[in-house]
Amino acid sequence: MTDEVSRNERIKEASDYLRGTLSAGLRDEITGAIVEDDQQLVKFHGMYLQDDRDLRPERTRKKMEKAFAFMIRVRIPGGVVTSQQWLMLDQLARIYGNGTMRMTTRQTVQLHGVIKSNLRATIKAIDSVLLNSIAACGDINRNVMCNPNPNQSRAHAAAQDLARVISDHLLPRTPAYREIWLEGQRIAGGEEEVTEPIYGKTYLPRKFKIVVAVPPSNDVDVLAHDLGFIAILDDEEIKGWNVAVGGGMGMTHGERDTYPRIADVIGFCETKDVLAIAEAVVTVQRDWGDRKNRKHARLKYTIEDHGLNAFRAEVERRANVKLAPAQPFTFTSTGDRYGWNDSADGNSHLTLFVQNGRLRGGQMAALRKIAQEHKGDFRITPNQNLIIANIPAEKRSEIHSLAKAAGLLSPWSGLRRNSMACVALPTCGLALAESERYLPKLLDALEARLAARGLSSDDIVIRMTGCPNGCARPYLAEIGLVGKSPARYNLYLGAAFNGSRMNKLYAEDLDHDGIVAALDPIFAAYAAGRRKGERFGDFAIRAGYVMASGNGRDFHANVDGKTELAAI
Ligand code: HEM
Ligand code: SF4
Repeated sequence: MTDEVSRNERIKEASDYLRGTLSAGLRDEITGAIVEDDQQLVKFHGMYLQDDRDLRPERTRKKMEKAFAFMIRVRIPGGVVTSQQWLMLDQLARIYGNGTMRMTTRQTVQLHGVIKSNLRATIKAIDSVLLNSIAACGDINRNVMCNPNPNQSRAHAAAQDLARVISDHLLPRTPAYREIWLEGQRIAGGEEEVTEPIYGKTYLPRKFKIVVAVPPSNDVDVLAHDLGFIAILDDEEIKGWNVAVGGGMGMTHGERDTYPRIADVIGFCETKDVLAIAEAVVTVQRDWGDRKNRKHARLKYTIEDHGLNAFRAEVERRANVKLAPAQPFTFTSTGDRYGWNDSADGNSHLTLFVQNGRLRGGQMAALRKIAQEHKGDFRITPNQNLIIANIPAEKRSEIHSLAKAAGLLSPWSGLRRNSMACVALPTCGLALAESERYLPKLLDALEARLAARGLSSDDIVIRMTGCPNGCARPYLAEIGLVGKSPARYNLYLGAAFNGSRMNKLYAEDLDHDGIVAALDPIFAAYAAGRRKGERFGDFAIRAGYVMASGNGRDFHANVDGKTELAAI
């Protein structure tokens, strides 16, 4: 570590509120890329410069530039879009993207493969349906997540409203996005100094993620994020919110001072105080967060370094709100409620299964047909799935048939129903191993083993990522697989089914056969020895395969000192 702030801090400072040289870079036709500093800034506009890693060897051989293209992540608070917005995203994916749509673990839609010369047209089209990609990536508050269940109760509607209000409150104020992507020029009056009252010139030290949870569902994985609000219900009404701070998944292999961490619940506040608390948490992190070392810059490290009590006191001081003691709540699962659910107004909602959130060809066509007919909305779940919401009775059977024919109904396998994978190869520059393209094959093999043990329909949470950054929240999965090198994964076991405890490293550097060979005997032992209702993650601990995970720094502790296999 040095005394100097990190390079990204200087880029932000010099960027004139996120403008950098992006406008000029877009006009440069010699390259499909943009200059390095702008590559950092463009994230704040919801885009990543990527290249197709499958094509790298061939293009290097031919002395060609990498196959550059951008990923655009659309900002969708609470995951709710109208049919019209869905149709636009679908069209853009086909015209300007790589023909696929990617639903993400944070309730957004990503378009991959948009080349530089099409960026403006794509963003303009997104804007024409009242969506945008501002602050979908970068060192700033990103998409605010929320349980997407439509009109299930007044509490769910209130939670969705809250997510939108928080999202709006924490948007950046800079006109850079409009100037660069929509107007194509500096807006009149834009010479005046803009201010970012919440963020300041250098925004946050690192990414910042907020979610709103409605128990008993923990579909948003509230403890995995920097800041979470957990609804405390009195019947159907919201009494207020427990506040959770300091969650985050990313770590680096072999660096024990980096670790995933689950959030601490620090107290309870009323709805009227939520924005003040959210803003205070953000500004304390802005001022206390580490701006020298980006691997130590998330809120989770700020809290570990300063201590939870000092952090809570500073938040209370800045918000001018005294948090009450946290109130009791119970989470049952992190999964989605697949299939049909009805609400009191007579409408129904159909939760579809989208494998790893990736939609292509026939499935996109089926959803297009549904969107053309359907007057309700589309809701992206935190598990990379999709809800067709508010379907009137007379449309039920038609929509059901279309979804069924496209293979979008929930699968029979309890493991697949509860599976997620990050994107990884070929687009993610950080991937060490395959994820989205490999998990379905691994599931085929594991399903055969589970079937042999009579466990086919048991819900077991499995998540895979191509590197330890943790985009699919693998450390909160009962079976977590994290890419280590090409075709090799670390295997983590023992997380809680409801997202309240992380898993622990069980085995390293496993290839496909190694993963199956490691899990098969544990499946057998689980089938033979589980207690009534005992979840796979809880069993893995009781049976001594791993110890219960500690939080934060303790995540790495005792990995080598596995308990002796207990008598089952
Ligand atoms: C240091 C940590 C991280 C870095 C550097 C990072 C970087 C990236 C990159 C480059 C992508 C683009 C991949 C592609 O679409 O081609 C991505 C995707 C994504 N990341 Fe992260 N990420 C980090 C941690 C996380 C964490 C902890 C979460 C969530 C809890 C998260 C959520 C996502 C989501 C939702 C996507 C979209 C694709 C998906 O659903 O997997 N990221 N990340
Ligand atoms: S977990 Fe790693 S490989 Fe997967 S999308 Fe995130 S950064 Fe890329």
